[in-house]
Amino acid sequence: MTIRTVRTAPFEGQKPGTSGLRATTRTFMQPGYLETFVQSIFDAVGGIGGRTLTLGGDGRFFNERAIQTILKMAAANGAARVLVGRDGLLSTPAASAVIRERRTDGGIILSASHNPGGADGDFGIKYNIPAGGPAPESVTEAIYARTRTIDQYRILEAPDLDLTTEGERMLGGLAVEVVDPVAIYAGLMRRLFDFEAIRALFASGFRMRFDAMHAVTGPYARALLEGELGAPAGTVVNGVPLPDFGGGHPDPNPVYAKALVDELLGPEAPDFGAASDGDGDRNMIVGRGAYVTPSDSLAILAANAHLAPGYARGLAGIARSMPTSRAADRVAAKLGIPCFETPTGWKFFGTLLDAGKATICGEESAGTGSDHLREKDGLWAVLLWLDILAVRRQPVAGILAEHWAAYGRDYYSRHDYEAVDKAAAEGLMAALRDLLGGLPGRAIEGLTVTAADDFAYTDPVDGSRAEHQGIRIVFGEAARLVFRLSGTGTAGATLRVYLERFEPDPARQAEAPETALAPVARAAEALAGIRARLGREAPDVRT
Ligand code: G6P
Ligand code: ZN
Repeated sequence: MTIRTVRTAPFEGQKPGTSGLRATTRTFMQPGYLETFVQSIFDAVGGIGGRTLTLGGDGRFFNERAIQTILKMAAANGAARVLVGRDGLLSTPAASAVIRERRTDGGIILSASHNPGGADGDFGIKYNIPAGGPAPESVTEAIYARTRTIDQYRILEAPDLDLTTEGERMLGGLAVEVVDPVAIYAGLMRRLFDFEAIRALFASGFRMRFDAMHAVTGPYARALLEGELGAPAGTVVNGVPLPDFGGGHPDPNPVYAKALVDELLGPEAPDFGAASDGDGDRNMIVGRGAYVTPSDSLAILAANAHLAPGYARGLAGIARSMPTSRAADRVAAKLGIPCFETPTGWKFFGTLLDAGKATICGEESAGTGSDHLREKDGLWAVLLWLDILAVRRQPVAGILAEHWAAYGRDYYSRHDYEAVDKAAAEGLMAALRDLLGGLPGRAIEGLTVTAADDFAYTDPVDGSRAEHQGIRIVFGEAARLVFRLSGTGTAGATLRVYLERFEPDPARQAEAPETALAPVARAAEALAGIRARLGREAPDVRT
């Protein structure tokens, strides 16, 4: 086996976004594209000689090829050991768990998360730091800088390795340890939750449906829900990971997981429904007749977490991304703990979790997690809900209604305008930015602006600063509008408009969100001129 040094040149646009480098699968399949980025990671972290890494992906098309390539590159770059999930599979939270539990020097996760997969879909790669979380901007910037100057990569010439069975095998001087993708993660879940209580819940006739969306959580959900917790066979649907996710869009929201939502809102509904995304870090929660928004889910989990053994001592703090509704803030206030407002992107929670300032974190984009890992964790959220349901023995709809009665309801919706012209979207944001100074005091569609800014964040732990993280327009206590451009798309730009209205009166908490939010939506159009600027009559996705 010989080590080859291959000459290469920078590829345009290898800039990590909200969550690693994402591009079309075909972009990644260009000769040298993946290799150039992987070598840039290795170089930017100071080389991987003698180090141990974790490696796995969500099983999408090109996952296996990429894993084989990265193993050969790790061997050629002198790594000591790589822990890789069997068949190259590791959900994002499971990868974080392996990095932390086995104390590896970080890891590489192959996924484009909830983006469609397949030869015509998307692919992605991200580097996670030894704490188990996504690399902070200082590291992703260093990786990007390296991609601009790189001129060679190293790879071992060797046959592909068998990854279908667990165990250790050598690749040149590299020890490759093929691990069960579920075991370490499952052990962590057993320590956090009362599996006895959840088993008793299922034994009492409680029925749930978990939609794995043909993505990576299938094996995890089968092993935990149907295997250990005694949920009946058939609880997990679409449970076999497929390279193209069955042609679907593995994003757990009411649009892409419509079948599940329809079932839960229909006449034959089970008690509880949940879904997870391509790489297993997102979650959607829906009770019989009751869809739970991610922002409400965060608030309810925070208010009830003490019912689960792993959180019985209470929470140190809550953190939410800025566009996530302010429901969690009121829970934090009641608990007398801090609530942190961070920019979009899980990586911003890392320092707060490391410093013990926050215990539970969440985002409107269907991400919830805690200090057990440094990634959001779809199944963790489902298990925490199950633990709470096992203790409270109430329907989800009842828990939701009681929560709103106690804390008020935040009607919430996000409107996405996908794959729009990038220059037009940037123009819209720039025009909004220019308006900001003159907005306070102005009435728009019957709502009065009390504050307006371009969100900037100073990390309270390490002092790092992130600017231009979204335009925030607050209309008193009553409503809020946020505009930002997505950092995860691969075509053009995606404008996200987040609409929110607070309703403290229990008698008025049962409206349809579209109705309750109509004035806020009108204010968004009046302020941003979305139709004229983007040429779109309506959003592509409303969640
Ligand atoms: C990924 C990140 C999340 C983020 C989400 C939406 O899932 O891990 O932290 O909230 O993308 O990002 P976007 O920039 O597309 O709104
Ligand atoms: Zn994901």
